[in-house]
Amino acid sequence: MDSMRIRGGKSLSGKIHISGAKNAALPLLACSLLTDETLTLGNVPHLADIATMANLLGQHGVSIGLNGNQKSSGSTGRVVELKATNITNITAPYDLVRKMRASILVLGPLVARCGEAKVSLPGGCAIGTRPVDLHIKALQQLGADVVLENGYIHARAPKGLKGAEIVFPMATVTGTENVMMAAALAKGETTIVNAAREPEISDLANCLVAMGAQIDGIGSDKLRITGKDRLHAARHDVVADRIEAGTFAMAAAITHGNVELLGAKLEHLHSVAKLLGEAGVNIEETPAGLRVSCPHGLRGVDMMTEPYPGFPTDLQAQMMALMCVAEGASMITETIFENRFMHVPELRRMGANITVHNNSAMIRGIPQLTGAPVMATDLRASVSLALAGLAAKGETILNRIYHLDRGYERLEEKLAACGADIERVREAA
Ligand code: UD1
Repeated sequence: MDSMRIRGGKSLSGKIHISGAKNAALPLLACSLLTDETLTLGNVPHLADIATMANLLGQHGVSIGLNGNQKSSGSTGRVVELKATNITNITAPYDLVRKMRASILVLGPLVARCGEAKVSLPGGCAIGTRPVDLHIKALQQLGADVVLENGYIHARAPKGLKGAEIVFPMATVTGTENVMMAAALAKGETTIVNAAREPEISDLANCLVAMGAQIDGIGSDKLRITGKDRLHAARHDVVADRIEAGTFAMAAAITHGNVELLGAKLEHLHSVAKLLGEAGVNIEETPAGLRVSCPHGLRGVDMMTEPYPGFPTDLQAQMMALMCVAEGASMITETIFENRFMHVPELRRMGANITVHNNSAMIRGIPQLTGAPVMATDLRASVSLALAGLAAKGETILNRIYHLDRGYERLEEKLAACGADIERVREAA
């Protein structure tokens, strides 16, 4: 298994291009199942999770063409052409779903287009139990007959889905996306109440509209989708990754650097920018994106994760790394996932002073972390350890970096280009 060697203490300086968002690209790829015409997606990031989704779609019969890099537009993302002329297989197998929970995103489109889908139940993961009951209940409300058998969700709607009012008791990102895609081909009108409002959901909605769907209330917590008999070809560019941008903003802050994040959008990072500002980080908009600098010391701040537009759970671990070296104490409360403090024992091995009580962590800042061998447990926990390593005295070896490759495109190259001493160590075959 590859690892990452980081020698800390270098201040980051330069420009980093923000890639297309993984969490937007995944549902957009699944969207190709809704039409027999070509869906062209631009700014698709090169990531292991994208390859897994492409693999899954290939199994369903989608033909996928890569059209090279979009270097001319300054982006390194690829253009991907997807064509689902015929869906040849309605099963999403256990082996792929267990690798990537977002595989559940094929459920809604497959039932809507084919009248049947069999998708493996994702099961728990490193950050919690993560049920999909709300996806299932919503599909039942749209008229699907759903049974759970042999570890699979088997949904059938041979006469097609029918619009309904779906009231989510809690905002679910992929749940909202699954219903939105299914409703786009259902008969009549579907209303989603308490819809999640993440920018990736609006990106998906805009793509569906380009494919001929009618969706009102985009960006709000109430979406109204009027189903169509068929959707058609479209071209859509994946929105910039706000989580990657937030991660690099914190990398700049923890190294007291000065970095311009090309393509980053402040409108998607308000809660993050506000909190970083309170912690002593400067963030300003530039014509090309955002400039982040931190010339002085960091201050401890309190934070709670919330659904968008609140502070994202996907940046909680990175914020904790930052707070480890801030002056004073900070309290971080995780409200979305029940087991998302797996980075705490590893940060402690680097000298951090953190106490966890239920879903809150109290961090007492120390002047400097020290490098150590550490183990990545999930995607965002891994990158928080990389940030800690950038600020630590001495060498950090980050193991199990396949987690990083799932969601960060060329992380070490982007950081090294800004002066970080970081390299991938490939395991001898
Ligand atoms: C998505 C993101 C993930 C992010 C998360 C929260 C993708 C591919 N993944 O995950 O990176 O961390 O949003 O912002 O976009 N829940 C239920 N029943 C359900 C569905 C969800 O109880 O049927 C609960 C979850 O356990 C969790 C909360 O609802 O406590 C929110 O989860 P959800 O928004 O669904 O997360 P994902 O869509 O899986």
